[in-house]
Amino acid sequence: MTKQRIFSGVQPSATPTIGNYIGAMKNFVALQDDYDCIYCIVDQHATTVPQDPVTLRMQTRSLAALYLAIGLDPEKSTIFIQSEVPAHSEASTIVRCNMGMGELERMTQYKDKSQKQQSVSVGLFTYPAVMVADIILYNTNVVPVGADQKQHLELTRDFVTRFNKRYGYGSSILTMPEPLIPKTGSRIMSLQTPSKKMSKSDANPKEYISMLDNAKTIRKKINSAITDSYGVVAYDPENKPGVSNLLTIFSAFTGESIDDIVKRFGGVGYGQFKRELADAIIAELEPIQERYNVLFASEELDKVPDEGTTRANQIAGETVRKMKRAVGLGR
Ligand code: TYM
Repeated sequence: MTKQRIFSGVQPSATPTIGNYIGAMKNFVALQDDYDCIYCIVDQHATTVPQDPVTLRMQTRSLAALYLAIGLDPEKSTIFIQSEVPAHSEASTIVRCNMGMGELERMTQYKDKSQKQQSVSVGLFTYPAVMVADIILYNTNVVPVGADQKQHLELTRDFVTRFNKRYGYGSSILTMPEPLIPKTGSRIMSLQTPSKKMSKSDANPKEYISMLDNAKTIRKKINSAITDSYGVVAYDPENKPGVSNLLTIFSAFTGESIDDIVKRFGGVGYGQFKRELADAIIAELEPIQERYNVLFASEELDKVPDEGTTRANQIAGETVRKMKRAVGLGR
């Protein structure tokens, strides 16, 4: 039986945080044995907000190294860079022309991100249309993402229905994708402001733990994470958002259930809990960082996206040809 297709991506706008890791990247690795996985470094998306060109190129290489360091195996997963597959730009044009302004104006991530920019690019507004193109180009069945991408997946599903109806005359030109959002850790919150999502582009580094933070920094950030004055380790996202977020992170890193962690730390206060949480994060990230350091400096790192791009171009090229034919573009 042919395997179902997975597609997902991460922006190389900064080093991924443990939020990206728990919400998406850890799943990328877990899925690669059972699915035909395609993982993209979505560099074009990163340019929807201002980027320094040298830093962006470095971060793209860094993310490729991190993909491999977390355990993605190029024998099982296709890894490539979005801007190296022109079909993404071609398909985006078709998507944009079959999408309403109102649909994009409703996107909450656009509303959040545009508020943080001094001047908002057209690209930031049309970003979700490019994300739709990313997904449909690979005949994707399943898209592992964090909760913040749910609305973009709904937009994709609406687009697929509309496109197939408008141009397929009963046949399915495009494949309908399903989001795969983890039960625990789909929305890791900021360590300083637990009412908002942890984000790799936050100005204050104390808000997040980067996947390349060293042990000392991780301990410091966990120690200064906001809790409350009750001193009781308990899961109650509404009244104890800080502690509940730390419990979610603890559970995601150890695989232990939140109930069991609460039982274990019930009587000991936050100090011991935070120490063991930092231990668990460091124990998982340190070996990843060791592999990352070797990979980042290696020539092998260039071969992986080279091979990935060849396969991605083949699959995406075929879909975009089908889309152009359906719409009536070209001869
Ligand atoms: P990006 O780079 O912002 O985030 C990468 C992945 O990490 C998830 N994520 C989180 N999960 C849990 N808690 C958090 N605090 C947290 N922050 C981020 C995101 O949901 C995402 O899965 N638009 C996407 C990239 C993209 C994409 C695609 C994804 C472009 N095209 C096609 C899937 C399919 C984004 O900005 O990811």
